Amino acid sequence: MTTNERLIGRADVDDVDDVDAILAVANTDVDAVAHAVRSHADALFTWDYERTRPALAKLYEKAKTSQWNANDLAWDTPVDPASVASADRAQNAGIFARQDLRGTPVEHWGDDEWVAYAIESQNWTLSQFLHGEQGALICTAQIVETVPWIDAKYYAATQVMDEARHVEVFARYLDEKRAGHYPVNAHLEMLLDDIVSDGRWDMTYLGMQIMVEGLALAAFGFIHQLTTEPLLKQLLRYVMSDEARHVAFGVLSLQEFYDQLTAAEVRERQEFAFEAAVRMRDRFLQQEVWQKLGIDPREMVPVALAAPDQPLFQSLLFSKIVPNCKKLGLLDAADGWLRHRFEELQVIQYEDWADTTEEYGALDAVAADRTGA
Ligand SMILES: [Fe+2]
Ligand SMILES: [Fe+2]
Repeated sequence: MTTNERLIGRADVDDVDDVDAILAVANTDVDAVAHAVRSHADALFTWDYERTRPALAKLYEKAKTSQWNANDLAWDTPVDPASVASADRAQNAGIFARQDLRGTPVEHWGDDEWVAYAIESQNWTLSQFLHGEQGALICTAQIVETVPWIDAKYYAATQVMDEARHVEVFARYLDEKRAGHYPVNAHLEMLLDDIVSDGRWDMTYLGMQIMVEGLALAAFGFIHQLTTEPLLKQLLRYVMSDEARHVAFGVLSLQEFYDQLTAAEVRERQEFAFEAAVRMRDRFLQQEVWQKLGIDPREMVPVALAAPDQPLFQSLLFSKIVPNCKKLGLLDAADGWLRHRFEELQVIQYEDWADTTEEYGALDAVAADRTGA
């Protein structure tokens, strides 16, 4: 069996024949209020309180002065999801714009149907952000316990507070300003479960800070740029300024740790990154949106996957992940194994984009407010 088959169940990453298999995995427990995951990690005390990691110490100082209060956002902004969807659509017609939709279930849709779809699509996306933020909250609390270095425990503690605020703002936005939230997508839940349950502390960082938060940072940037809704724009600007620090925390910590690993151990991290990349690229398909609109996802998901703009949109989500993997040495270790996989995924073109250790200062919203920038 080739490595691709073992890791992602198929030899060719662009073979989308398994859409049925992806759709067969669904959240069947949408009314549950709790979900338990067994963590296999040890909680680790350190008695070495010496501050020996200046880059992490600097990030910690930055985090302490960049805290903001969710209550200070402009919550009195009126939000009408239908007007927002229409205004957003006027600026950017969306993924189906350049597609021939004859013969599909949406062939005869008019403006009203497209606006209804746009509302649900944004609710779904923001809902998955909400659940992902809770994943980050749990992972970071876990890192406080498991990372062996005092400077990293200090920094991670600030991230726990950041993530609580992120869960708070997405939940409040969805429940107060829109029609409430969708349950977690089953594939996102499985990815978060795998990250939380892995007992190796550095895998929590790789899964969350590098892969999930790297993708989130790109997606937030994308929506921040496109949306015409001022409260969402403000919310995303603040969240992004925190996320940039979080990704930088992952890069700074893993750089040091990976230097000490054996080639076989590094290869395991490459495989983990590749598997997470494919899962994030291919499995979050807005399945539940089509269901809610009364359309069989098996009919519409393949249409969405075939949209001419889909490959560009999917690849943009990797614009932070690829340079950060490069900075960690993960692209080129093991004879460039991950480089070749990212070539197959057609995302390697981002390798020389800014890595997040370079840009977290520039994205600091709180500092920019203070100086009036
Ligand atoms: Fe977050
Ligand atoms: Fe984060």
